[in-house]
This record gives sequence, C-alpha cells and structure tokens, in this order.
Amino acid sequence: MSDPRADAPPTAADVAAAREKALAALSEAPDLDALDEAKRVHLGKRSPLATLQRGLGLLEDAARREVGRAINEAREALTAAEAARREELEAERDRVQLAAEAVDVTLPPRTPRRGALHPAVETTEAMVDAFCGLGFTPVTGPEVESEWFNFEALNIPADHPARGLMDTIYVRGLGAEPDDDPRRPGITPLLLRTHTSPVQVRTLLAQQPPVYVVVPGRVYRSDVADATHLPAFFQIEGLAIDRDLSFADLRGTLAAAIRALLGDDVPIRLRPHHFQFTEPSCEVDAFFDGEWMEVLGAGMVHPNVLRASGVDPKQWQGFAFGVGPERLAMLRHAVTDIRQFVDGDLRFLSAQSSVPA
Ligand code: DAH
Repeated sequence: MSDPRADAPPTAADVAAAREKALAALSEAPDLDALDEAKRVHLGKRSPLATLQRGLGLLEDAARREVGRAINEAREALTAAEAARREELEAERDRVQLAAEAVDVTLPPRTPRRGALHPAVETTEAMVDAFCGLGFTPVTGPEVESEWFNFEALNIPADHPARGLMDTIYVRGLGAEPDDDPRRPGITPLLLRTHTSPVQVRTLLAQQPPVYVVVPGRVYRSDVADATHLPAFFQIEGLAIDRDLSFADLRGTLAAAIRALLGDDVPIRLRPHHFQFTEPSCEVDAFFDGEWMEVLGAGMVHPNVLRASGVDPKQWQGFAFGVGPERLAMLRHAVTDIRQFVDGDLRFLSAQSSVPA
C-alpha cells in the first residue's frame, strides 16, 4: 500500500496496513535512535495514521465511526509497542554500559607518590636528633664566611700548609679579594666555608660556656665530583665546652651518637690523627658491614681556638667533631657513589627514606 493521501477517504484496510507497517518498525527498531525515528515517522503529526485521521471528515457517519475507532485502537497498540521496545532497548543499553564500567574491587589501589626527605637531610636530622638527645642545641652559621673564621681563628695561619689541603672557593666582589694580604688590618677575604668548624668560634664569641652545640650545614670545596667527592656537601659540627670535659667524654658521646645512627651493636675505634684546631686529634671508625669505615674527625679543642674565641683555656676545655652526613648515609644505605645525592634521580631519592635508622 502506498501512503494515504489527505484527499482520499480513508478505509479500515488503510488503517490496518499503516498499523502493521508501524508495528514492524517500532517493535523491530535495532536501537534507541532507530526507535525515536520510527516513533516520529509512525506516531508523529505527519504519520500515515495522522493523515488518515485528517481524512475522516470525508466519510459518512457510520464509516467514520468504524475507521475512527480503528485509528484509535491502532494508536493505542503502537504506543504500547513503542513503550515495550523502549524498555527492552534501555535495559540492553544499561547492561552494556554497566559491563563496560565494571570496577574490579579486588585490584590494588593506585597509591599517590609520596614525597621524601633527601637522604643527606634525613641522615643529618637523625644525627642532630641523636645529639639533641644528649643535651646539645642545634645552631647554624653563614655559608659565605670570612677567611678569619674559616682558617685563622681555627689555628690555621695564612702560610700554613693545611690551607692547601682545603681547595677553597673565594668570593670575589664581596669584601676583599683573595690576593689581598690577609694580615693587612681591616681586610679579611670572603670565601665559601670549607667546613662547619668556623661556627665553633662564632658560637663561643656569642655565648659563654658551658656550650653544647651541634651545627648542620653546607660546605664547599673546589673539588671535581667523583665517586667519593662533591664540590658542595653537608657537614655536621659538634662542640662541647665545659669545665671538666676529657677525651673520655668525647669517646662516650661520639659512640652514643654513632650507635644511634648505625646500630646499637656497632663497635667504634679511635685512630690518632691531626687537625689544626684540635689537640689531641683522632679519626673515629665504625665497624660496619665487616669493615672498619672512617666516620668522622674529632679531638680536644685547641687552646688557640679557645683564645681566638675569647675563652680562657685554663678554665674551659672540651671536644669538637665534624662528620659528613652523605658519607654516613652511604654507609647506612649501601650507596657506592656520592654523586647519586645530587643526580636528582627520584628512584634514589625516595628509596632511601623508607629505611629506618
Ligand atoms: N673541619 C674538619 C673537616 O672539614 C672536620 C673536623 C675534624 C671538625 C675534627 C672538627 C674536628 O670539629 O674536631 O675536614
């Protein structure tokens, strides 16, 4: 049957044909879009049924009632068929979507990446903590230092060969130049401190003994980086000045701190050594991983250092030490190349922090 025309009187057969065609389109719509389209075509204002309805006026009363009833029944049947098909298609759509969005609750969660302290900082904090527990107070000093604090006051005079052992980086343009004669009054060249020891002198000039301080900080040397050297690295200085401190106090204090970091059963030994600012001096080794490893330098503070700091060596004496946290961290975490501390490799930086002290 061709589509009904508005000017032809509609028949019951026309209605039946339109109904059958519409029923097929609605109940067999393959998806929701097709169903919407079939609804528009077969139940909308321009559908064949609507056209037939408009033609009812062309009919006699009896025929109009009969055809009109057929149209109404067709419309009801088609509306019901459309709703039934929609329910089916929506259920199918939801089923597909739920399957696609299914979550496997047994999978491990994606944990956010945690920040971590730099291993040298973590070791520094552990060391400073250990000394705080022994009654020491943390203090700091400047990284740009005068030659006087870095050398002279520490019993390292200008012509002393010990200066040559520390490859010093001088700071030009700030204060005096390195070639200036340091003995000339008023002139003391600036440099990047080569060790934290100048803070011993700064502390003693600023506060009366008894003094128990621990000094974390960065130091600089014009060294080329290799597996065991960096041009910029950390140190922790310690200074204890009181009336009756002896070498036994030095040994006991350092043994306690080293054990706090490396483990309770780690033996230490003291080897004679030389530092300009201590007398006697020693190096402290720890027996770790089957080997004696050098851990720090120490000694009884030299009377010349006390005098330069305005402290009377007859009344006060004590000990000092200097330790490299990177070296310590290398022992604690079995690191073989000190350059790893500055490479910025996140696998290295975050792996170390989970190791307990
Ligand atoms: N200042 C020394 C250095 O950088 C380390 C040091 C050794 C510090 C002995 C001390 C000490 O206080 O007593 O190599």
